[in-house]
Amino acid sequence: MFGERRAKAEAVSLSGGALDVVVLPSGASLTLRFAKPDDAEGLQHYFRSLSVHSRTDRFLGALSELSPRELGRFVDAGEDGRFSVLAVTTEDGFETIVGEARYAFAADMGDVELGLSVDDRRQGRGIGSALLHHVQCRAAALGVERLFGDTLRSNAGMMGLARKSGFAFAPSPGDWKLVRFEKYLGVSSPLQQTSRASRRLAAGALAATPGVPRSCEEIIPAASAA
Ligand SMILES: CC(C)(COP(=O)(O)OP(=O)(O)OC[C@H]1O[C@@H](n2cnc3c(N)ncnc32)[C@H](O)[C@@H]1OP(=O)(O)O)[C@@H](O)C(=O)NCCC(=O)NCCS
Repeated sequence: MFGERRAKAEAVSLSGGALDVVVLPSGASLTLRFAKPDDAEGLQHYFRSLSVHSRTDRFLGALSELSPRELGRFVDAGEDGRFSVLAVTTEDGFETIVGEARYAFAADMGDVELGLSVDDRRQGRGIGSALLHHVQCRAAALGVERLFGDTLRSNAGMMGLARKSGFAFAPSPGDWKLVRFEKYLGVSSPLQQTSRASRRLAAGALAATPGVPRSCEEIIPAASAA
């Protein structure tokens, strides 16, 4: 798929470098970047250090850490249309992972699915908003119609974040314990004018279509990090 190849190429060219630097309401700066293979240990440490509650919310069930296979996938940007974005802070030259978002790009469906988490000690400071806004930007740049995720109905934090970020809610297909948050990005693109059967082709054409928004700010209001 052309769209996926484009995304993968972009990931490779940007990996190692910052995708975005966000100033949080506190004035602290936060760097967002793709996860890369040498983040495996740090990312596993990050997931282990989340509270049981946050890990359950993040992975929709009990999980103490990622399996080596899943961890390998997490740090392989672009593999299978999936990307992990890390939120990191740097103090005294040491980088700390304080949040992560993972999204999957399905060019044939014209959508992006995401999940995210923020270190418990740093929740409520705008990091989740920054990550969610960033993923919206990535999705918009990929020309997708819809961004969505599933969360536990009991997850007030994620539902509050999604609501504040303009997502709507719908039942999650097949699981009453979950709720789906979703947002149509309003990208006027060939994807919206085609049947599902032809979307795969349209997604390929999209990258070459003049006038299709490439930058987030064209269609999504500037980040309100709070
Ligand atoms: C959900 C989560 C990612 C939010 O991240 P965060 O950095 O705390 O979010 P922010 O500080 O950007 O909060 C933005 C808005 O979300 C809403 N929000 C955040 N936490 C909330 C809570 N516990 N209850 C209700 N609303 C909440 C608020 O509207 C908040 O805006 P405000 O601070 O102006 O009131 C974080 O709580 C988390 O990691 N939870 C565990 C993992 C998880 O649930 N992942 C979701 C799986 S899809």
